[in-house]
Amino acid sequence: MKSKFGLLYILFSVLCVILTGCGQTFDTHMEDAVEANPLDSNLTVVGVSQVGSESVWRTANTASVQDAFTRENGYFLIFDNARQKQENQIKAIRSFISQRVDYIVFSPIKETGWETVLTEAKEAGIPVILMDRMVDVTDETLFAAWVGSDFEKEGQLAGNWLEEALSQKDSSEEVRIVVLQGTQGATSMLGRTKGFAEVAKKHSNWKIIEQIDAEYTTAKGREEMRRILNTYDHIDVLVSQNDDMTFGAIEAMKEAGLKPGSENDIMVISFDATKAGLNLVQTGEIDVDIECNPLQGDYVSKIIQMIQNNESYDKKCFVPEMVFTKENVDDLIDQRTY
Ligand code: AHR
Repeated sequence: MKSKFGLLYILFSVLCVILTGCGQTFDTHMEDAVEANPLDSNLTVVGVSQVGSESVWRTANTASVQDAFTRENGYFLIFDNARQKQENQIKAIRSFISQRVDYIVFSPIKETGWETVLTEAKEAGIPVILMDRMVDVTDETLFAAWVGSDFEKEGQLAGNWLEEALSQKDSSEEVRIVVLQGTQGATSMLGRTKGFAEVAKKHSNWKIIEQIDAEYTTAKGREEMRRILNTYDHIDVLVSQNDDMTFGAIEAMKEAGLKPGSENDIMVISFDATKAGLNLVQTGEIDVDIECNPLQGDYVSKIIQMIQNNESYDKKCFVPEMVFTKENVDDLIDQRTY
């Protein structure tokens, strides 16, 4: 591994010189790379391609990776933020292959379009570990493992909660539902949509009046909710596939003179259960927050260690998650770090 490390160091040094000459600034991961001791040959080199920084969840996921892949833990991390572009992820993975990293870890922005680059990684003999989202490939040997959430179950849990919340109501009364979706084609968006729809189809009075892409961001959540509130006279339930979109949608409700929450005008179902989301569960503005656990770095690291030790491991690893409502949030919110 020593020669590879030397090669890495030279590559980074050259890059530094070029970028300095162009008057550009370095990303944090570049600084980390340059600071690492190139003579330390025992480090495992991991290239991580993160999808972007669209949400509080994503920031926590990135921090979890950076905390797991430290020098103290025996790693040299090369981190790349793809800024929501699949082509940037493909470029990053190709650059990891050419740098001959030991492992590639990445969170695919969407499920399709990975066959070619994953074949290149396989041919180079570099194991790929998927984090958070899945890829849609016919050959499952193109990745060594996946760590993430059971997104379909998350969607079902949201539907089950709504069933329970409406159980006292007259079942012939129409329930008008708006769904704000995350990034199109992402496993989390597909799973949550499917899981919720499975429950919804059992109730002929549930009517999904809009299901729209709001890109997992606060800005888009606010924009879409403003438009939706201008379009429809009456909405009973908002299902928002992450907290960031929920924050924007709640702002739009307030601007329109509406109060969020089942005690008020529009029932709110959210996903992620970030600290800021849980604060709104406490105030009743979010009725239920279905957890999506971003702390995946240690799970990925454990899989890498098992691969290195030739131990057997489960190819798919689901991280633990729970559901937060007013009933349990006070007891658990202090443990939340993100
Ligand atoms: O894929 C996980 C989702 O992506 C999280 O729910 C969301 O907040 C993130 O950006």
